Amino acid sequence: MKLNTKAIHGKRLKDQFGSVTVPVYRTSTFEFKDIEESGQRAEKFFNGDGGVFAYSRLGNPTTESLEYTLAELEKAESAVVTGSGIGAISSVMWTFLKQGDHVLADTALYGDTHGLFEKLLKKFGVEIDYVDFTDFELFQKSLKQNTAIVYFESPCNPTLKVNDIEKISTIAHEFNKDIKVVIDNTFPSPYLQNPITLGVDIVVCSMTKYLGGHSDIIGGAIFGSKKDMLEIRFVGIECATGSVLSPDNAFLVMRGIATLPVRMQRHCENAMKIAEYLEKSKYIKNVYYPGLKSNPYHEIAKKQMRNFGGMIAFETSLDFEKTKKFIDELKIVKLAVSLGGVESLIEHPASQTHHSLSEEELALAGISPTQVRMSVGIEDVEDLIDDLEQAFKKASM
Ligand SMILES: Cc1ncc(COP(=O)(O)O)c(C=O)c1O
Repeated sequence: MKLNTKAIHGKRLKDQFGSVTVPVYRTSTFEFKDIEESGQRAEKFFNGDGGVFAYSRLGNPTTESLEYTLAELEKAESAVVTGSGIGAISSVMWTFLKQGDHVLADTALYGDTHGLFEKLLKKFGVEIDYVDFTDFELFQKSLKQNTAIVYFESPCNPTLKVNDIEKISTIAHEFNKDIKVVIDNTFPSPYLQNPITLGVDIVVCSMTKYLGGHSDIIGGAIFGSKKDMLEIRFVGIECATGSVLSPDNAFLVMRGIATLPVRMQRHCENAMKIAEYLEKSKYIKNVYYPGLKSNPYHEIAKKQMRNFGGMIAFETSLDFEKTKKFIDELKIVKLAVSLGGVESLIEHPASQTHHSLSEEELALAGISPTQVRMSVGIEDVEDLIDDLEQAFKKASM
């Protein structure tokens, strides 16, 4: 099956009535026939056989159906869903790290991922270094004997920097094959990029964004080998984070996934047209969109992505006060954090999604104080461009 078909007919558990959609199993626990059957079920369960349930923190038919479909889309052996994107990232960390380990992370990370690393992992004796992963020499030199995890995004939030996934995975694994190379694939979604096919060990993502697609749920997912996913389910999630997706939200993500390919196609088309409009606009100093030929990451993005995504960042040629006025004057594009929904959203990373970073950390991540991030929705692109233009005009008066 190809991608569009998989999104609609992906693997899922069959129900007894032949329901075409995935039923919502709104239950916390599952009845056993007797003690003997409970033991048999537990054995199958901890073996990761699937289709056997005891307690919904560990598995549920609705969430498991979603996991099968997700794994197919991401070209992974196995997937585990979580209560949020941060739940996915922290469940991976609590499963595979111990005191004294080293994490090598890219400088450009989602703000709360940076917060998790700085506020929690360091507190528990994990050493963390941040280097620019586009500098391969520096990246290689920064790997240590105790490096357990290499962590990055691509394209990065919010700078749209594109990292060479295959190269990073190869360098890390040549240094030590046991290093877990972990990538956050939230921005592209599995529709645009499948990092496991490029050598990554574990993919994490926020399903709150493109997979859900309608800004109505919070959820996350982790992808990788069956062995790693079992460990994450029965250590990180079961005993540490308890980050579990509700069956109702799993149903909504399943519904979102059915239209993921058509939505992503439109997000990409609209973002490209807006990036081209911004590139020519007198109100703009810099546009960051890997789809533009002028973008320094265009070639690598073309190599590892199917298209260039729906996220754009830019700096206006207006001063900061006028840039804020531009945002306030927008009528269709909403001022809100998050991304990947059908509606266009705009935000100011330095004061919103990345507020926890110091001035120095923002500079290191490439986030300027006046940078604006836009999640381009699937509205009529002419309406979006008109909205941006009228807001620029009013702000510059
Ligand atoms: C790249 C990226 N990763 C992870 C997250 C966290 O996801 P969630 O909000 O679902 O916890 C976000 C949220 O904005 C994000 O943009």
